[in-house]
Amino acid sequence: MATQRTLSLIKPDGLEKGIVGKIIARFEERGLKPVAVKLVRLTQAQAEGFYAVHRARPFFPSLVQFMTSGPILAMVLEGDDAVAKNREIMGATDPAKAAAGTIRKDFATDVEKNTVHGSDSPENAAIEIAYFFGQLELHPYDWKKK
Ligand code: CMP
Repeated sequence: MATQRTLSLIKPDGLEKGIVGKIIARFEERGLKPVAVKLVRLTQAQAEGFYAVHRARPFFPSLVQFMTSGPILAMVLEGDDAVAKNREIMGATDPAKAAAGTIRKDFATDVEKNTVHGSDSPENAAIEIAYFFGQLELHPYDWKKK
């Protein structure tokens, strides 16, 4: 399976609960390495831009309000099959429907305050990574190089 990169966000509820380390540990335990990390406080326009695909959904205003309510941790995760693996580790969008042992099952509050975001395809991963990170932050890594 090819090495991929995907965007991961730890949402304001994750920072509020103080579980950033626990969440990153779950990614690392499954072979996903953070290769770029930053703490961001999104403006309303930035949150609306990121979730533009959901603009017409009834939950959009509340989602934007939530995503701007506190800092988020944006990460690029790298590893084999990173897009699908990240989504497996996160669990279903609605924590009530998420499988046992997933981040959302164990930590999320509800379908909105669901602790983490992950890109849903390699194509969207490229778009979402570029939304948060610039070229200079995304240099390639050779983990075996001394
Ligand atoms: P995320 O994976 O970041 O993608 C879109 C987000 O919208 C989702 O996680 C939730 O935070 C939120 N969301 C999705 N569905 C609903 C819903 N039915 N009600 C409220 N928020 C939702």
